[in-house]
Amino acid sequence: MDSKKPIAGTTENNQEPNPEANPEPKSGNLPLRVGVVFAVFFLAASAGMTALTLGGGPAFLAPAVRQPLAFNHLKHVKDLDLACNTCHVTVETEAFSGLPSAEICAGCHAEAQGTTAEEKRLVKMIQDGTPLAWVSLFRQPPHVFYSHRRHVVVAKIPCTECHGGIAETTSPPLRVRKLQMKDCLACHERKRVSTDCTACHR
Ligand code: HEC
Ligand code: HEC
Ligand code: HEC
Ligand code: HEC
Ligand code: HEC
Repeated sequence: MDSKKPIAGTTENNQEPNPEANPEPKSGNLPLRVGVVFAVFFLAASAGMTALTLGGGPAFLAPAVRQPLAFNHLKHVKDLDLACNTCHVTVETEAFSGLPSAEICAGCHAEAQGTTAEEKRLVKMIQDGTPLAWVSLFRQPPHVFYSHRRHVVVAKIPCTECHGGIAETTSPPLRVRKLQMKDCLACHERKRVSTDCTACHR
């Protein structure tokens, strides 16, 4: 793995709450203890919700994303040595990098390549013409303008800098830590790139 700490992680457990943080009430009175435990839980939960609605929510509070198929990045990227743009076809040419349609997979999976159940399911989806409706994990709100071509080709920033280790996953992550405005600004300040509101908000 990258020795540098990526600004966006791909695991859901990189910011687990600390169970030790709950103060243990001294009283042996059971109803009181239960009450205190509930109060602590409620406070922690509402603090979490506040953090989430402010956009600074820890990854473990984000809703889980269910993908149509258990895609294995590691197998395709490492074992089969496929380039990112085999599937994310416009990552070097456009703002949007794209999530692969079934046609891209069909290039190899129109017939079975192996023996796994998940691949059998894929072959069936391709043969039936079922679309692969991937859900974007890193999607930003519509008022944010971001371009892959600009960052990947012009600025030559590695994918891992913003997406962590997703290419080393063996099944789609349920949650990720998305880039926040402060992540964009920190790098733009460091690299002396525009931090005008209108550069990113259009
Ligand atoms: C064989 C096709 C394929 C290749 C090659 C591939 N990917 Fe993917 N990628 C996918 C699929 C399918 C998804 C959606 C499922 C998932 O999240 O795992 C995805 C999702 C992603 C996402 C999450 C995007 C989002 O918003 O949900 C990132 C980031 C990503 N890939 C990066 C990479 C990088 C970096 C490489 C090259 C090192 C790469 N991928 C190579 C098929 C591929
Ligand atoms: C360049 C050819 C190629 C492309 C494109 C490709 N695959 Fe594969 N895929 C393979 C090969 C080869 C295997 C390995 C079969 C084996 O060894 O079991 C494989 C294995 C798989 C498996 C079973 C492995 C596992 O761990 O479950 C799934 C599921 C899969 N691919 C999904 C996809 C999806 C979804 C896409 C499109 C986004 C895709 N593949 C695109 C060649 C490809
Ligand atoms: C400087 C940060 C950064 C780098 C570097 C970066 N990405 Fe992204 N990526 C993002 C952001 C931000 C989004 C969400 C874009 C949006 O919602 O408009 C995203 C979204 C994606 C998506 C989902 C589809 C889409 O375009 O919204 C894929 C797939 C993806 N990136 C793949 C890659 C790959 C592959 C690389 C390396 C070749 C890469 N990214 C490099 C920041 C980055
Ligand atoms: C790791 C560093 C890094 C991160 C993180 C990053 N950027 Fe950038 N960004 C750059 C660099 C370097 C350039 C200048 C590329 C060039 O020379 O054109 C740039 C250029 C831009 C531009 C074009 C600015 C202009 O003056 O036209 C926009 C818009 C932009 N980034 C948006 C974003 C957004 C939105 C995010 C967060 C989701 C983000 N960037 C995260 C490094 C970064
Ligand atoms: C380098 C890119 C970048 C620049 C420059 C930037 N922003 Fe943002 N901003 C973002 C991103 C990405 C988000 C969405 C993620 C988040 O909420 O952290 C965001 C979110 C916001 C939001 C929150 C909107 C919501 O949905 O909650 C506000 C308000 C905002 N920006 C205002 C500003 C203002 C005002 C400036 C200028 C002083 C500015 N931004 C400059 C990238 C940028």
